[in-house]
Formats: sequence, C-alpha cells, structure tokens
Amino acid sequence: MFFEQLLRLPGTEICYFYGRLAVPAFAGMTTLLRNHKRYCHPRESGDRFLKPVTSNMTTDYLRDELIATFGTSNEEIKFFFSPGRVNLIGEHTDYNGGYVFPCALSFGTYLAVRKTSDPVIRMATTNFNYRAGISLDKLNEKHGDEWVNYPLGVFSELAKKGFKAQGLEMLYSGNIPNKSGLSSSASIELVTAVALDTIYKLGYDRVELVKIGRAAENHFVGVNCGIMDQFAVGMGKKDHAIYLNCDTLDYELVPMNIAGYKLVIANTNKSRGLADSKYNERVAECQAAVQALQPGKKIQYLAELTGAEFAQYQHLITDQTVMRRARHAVLENERTSLAVKTLKEGDLFTFGQLMNDSHDSLRYDYEVTGIELDTLVEETRKIPGVIGSRMTGAGFGGCTVSLVKDEAVENLIRTVGPAYQAITGLTADFYVAEIGDGAKQIK
Ligand code: GLA
Repeated sequence: MFFEQLLRLPGTEICYFYGRLAVPAFAGMTTLLRNHKRYCHPRESGDRFLKPVTSNMTTDYLRDELIATFGTSNEEIKFFFSPGRVNLIGEHTDYNGGYVFPCALSFGTYLAVRKTSDPVIRMATTNFNYRAGISLDKLNEKHGDEWVNYPLGVFSELAKKGFKAQGLEMLYSGNIPNKSGLSSSASIELVTAVALDTIYKLGYDRVELVKIGRAAENHFVGVNCGIMDQFAVGMGKKDHAIYLNCDTLDYELVPMNIAGYKLVIANTNKSRGLADSKYNERVAECQAAVQALQPGKKIQYLAELTGAEFAQYQHLITDQTVMRRARHAVLENERTSLAVKTLKEGDLFTFGQLMNDSHDSLRYDYEVTGIELDTLVEETRKIPGVIGSRMTGAGFGGCTVSLVKDEAVENLIRTVGPAYQAITGLTADFYVAEIGDGAKQIK
C-alpha cells in the first residue's frame, strides 16, 4: 500500500512515508531526500518514501500512468482532483436533517481522463488491480463490490438527467487511506462528476454535482448515506471548515483559527467489515425513532427536536436501543452548533470538550465505535496537550481526529502508537491534517 503513511511537514510540498510511524523531520532525512527523486513512482518507492502531491508532479505521474495503461493517443488529457474529508463534529446527524462540521483535506483522488472514439468507458486505478472496460450500453451494471461502482454510480445518475456517455479512458490515483472513514468514496464520486461536467460542459452548479455524488452512493452503491461527505469534498475551502445544515443545505465557511494547535488524524487500520450494512441499520433506527415520536411532535427529521423537546417525548420510543440512537442524533446536533460557536469565539478548550462528548455519545448511545477507535481515543486523551479526541466518519473502524497542541504532536505519535498496538495488535497511522480546497480541475 503506497499510501500507508503520510505526514505533511510544514514548509514542504512533499509528503513523507516513513515506515508506519509518521515522525517529524528526523536525522538523515535531508540526505534521504537528496538521494531520492523529487517525484517517484509509488510502486518503485516501496511504502516508505515520497509521494507526489503538487499539481505538476501529479499530472506528470498521472499522464505517465494513463499512457502506460491505455496506450498513446492524440486526444488531450485533462486532470482533476477531489479531496478526502475529516469531520470535526456532527456525526450521524446529516441523514437526520442536522448540522455537520467537516473540512476537506489536502489529500484525495486524482483523475486523468481522455476521450476515445471507441464506444467504451475504460477505468483503471493505481490503487487496486481491478480495472474495467465497459461498453456504453452496460454502464448501468454493478461490478460486485469493486471501486468502479462509485464512478459508475455518477454515470448512472447523470444518465437519469439525460446525459449520453461517450468513450473515455479514465485513470484514477488516490492517496486517501482506503476504508479509513476519510471519504475516499465521495472523493471518487466528486472527481468523476466534476470531470464529466467540465469535459461535456454540462453546466451543473457545484451543489447539483454534490447531490449527484450522494445519489450515486444511495442508488448505485447502496449505502443510504447523508450528504456530508460529498458536500465537504465538493465545497471545501482551504483552512476552513463547513458548518452545513444538511436539511436546507445552507452553509457557512468557518475559518479554522487554531494557531498553536494541529488536527491529528489517527487511522485504526481496522478493516470495516460490515460497516455498510451497520450504517444502513443506524439510518433505519433513526427513521423508526421519527415514527415513534410523531404523537409528540410531527417531525420529518430527528434534528428538528431540541434536547429539551426530546426529553419531553423520549418516553414515546419504547425500544431503548432506538431511543439511545435518537438521543445521540438530537444531542449531537445541538453539540455541533455549540462547537461552531465556541470555535468562532476562540474557545478551543470547550471545542475540544465537545469533541470528547461527541465520541462518548457515539460510543455509548450510537454504538459505532468499537475497541480500536475507543482505545485510540483513550490513549490519545492521556497525552498532555490534547484538548479533544473523537472518532470521525461513519465509525466501525476508520479514523479518529484530535485537537493537539503543536508541541504535543510528536509525543502523541510516539506514545499512542505503541500503546494502541499493545492493546489491539494493530498498527495505527498518524497524519497531521492540512485543510485543502474542494474538487477542481488541475490542468
Ligand atoms: C459516512 C456517511 C456520511 C455521514 C457519516 C457519519 O461518512 O457517508 O453521510 O453519515 O458517515 O456522520
């Protein structure tokens, strides 16, 4: 896995891969860099060297890969990028009509694409072996659980709106850890949607493309996700988080003024097994809660209730599991608004506390954490200088996000990694998050 390890160092343009422990500049790093090409092929580099991240390096690399995969042609190659995302707070609130507060990351999915006169869509990726050459009349067929379902879902949703696909050769390359809860799937959907919209001048506005990405996931892939991931990767802005009302889609870009602190992402590297079906189960439990609450208040979404109203009506939900799911959704929604307020006021300490509360609610009421996420969070919270730590994304494995004083980051990585390994037998990866822009054409 060439993207096993990623650490963006301040003042550099390059991501470093170093074993499975990301460390700040270490003795000998300069020599290592001098001796290594600035841009190298991941497969040649093993899992511990450089990855290209600047646009130029990436487009050169993608062009080479596309030609190596599909051969030469006179057609122009176009390049696109869509980020991953990390959600800071507001988890499992989006499909409950509530608030979320995610940001786009600086790493994501790249796409090089070129037209072909053959009536076929060819898709390949540098990340997995599976590739497909799909004739235009077969675009509606699902390919098992393969990654091509994400772009195919976008083709399918566009086709419902009248889009007629023509031959394309598409080469994807991503540096989001797979199944890490950092939205590699939404990233693939949006890079595809933006590319098709641009190449064929379809004229959709960005929010429309975001909705198409979500519909691809709901209808083609079969996960009943909310809109948070596609919105974050489609609408993100460098150094900002998005305070989004998932019912109205009103949103505000909030500057991430966290000078002196870093957002540290830690990957449990736990494979998420039945995550999709458990996710759909949670969605169904929330819908059951909405039904049970109707005699108290007519609502469409749980997020329409305040915490006080929920306390008044919660007795209507007789199934205690369903009640706890609903309690999480309602209180997490309130917590998210409060967290954004505290961040704007510069009260990072309270923001961190709310992150902690969010995790605890996801652990005990929503039950989407598990030993791996809980261990990472518990060990991280023990480190002096950590002011908040929680799981991010759907859960059932995946990543945590923590707000950490600059000077505590190194200690965190050096201490939590081994502690986590001792308890779970798994090796965690650590990333210092950089907040980047949403999906775009890069060349
Ligand atoms: C996944 C889904 C999102 C959201 C989160 C949980 O990432 O794709 O829509 O529900 O889980 O907050």
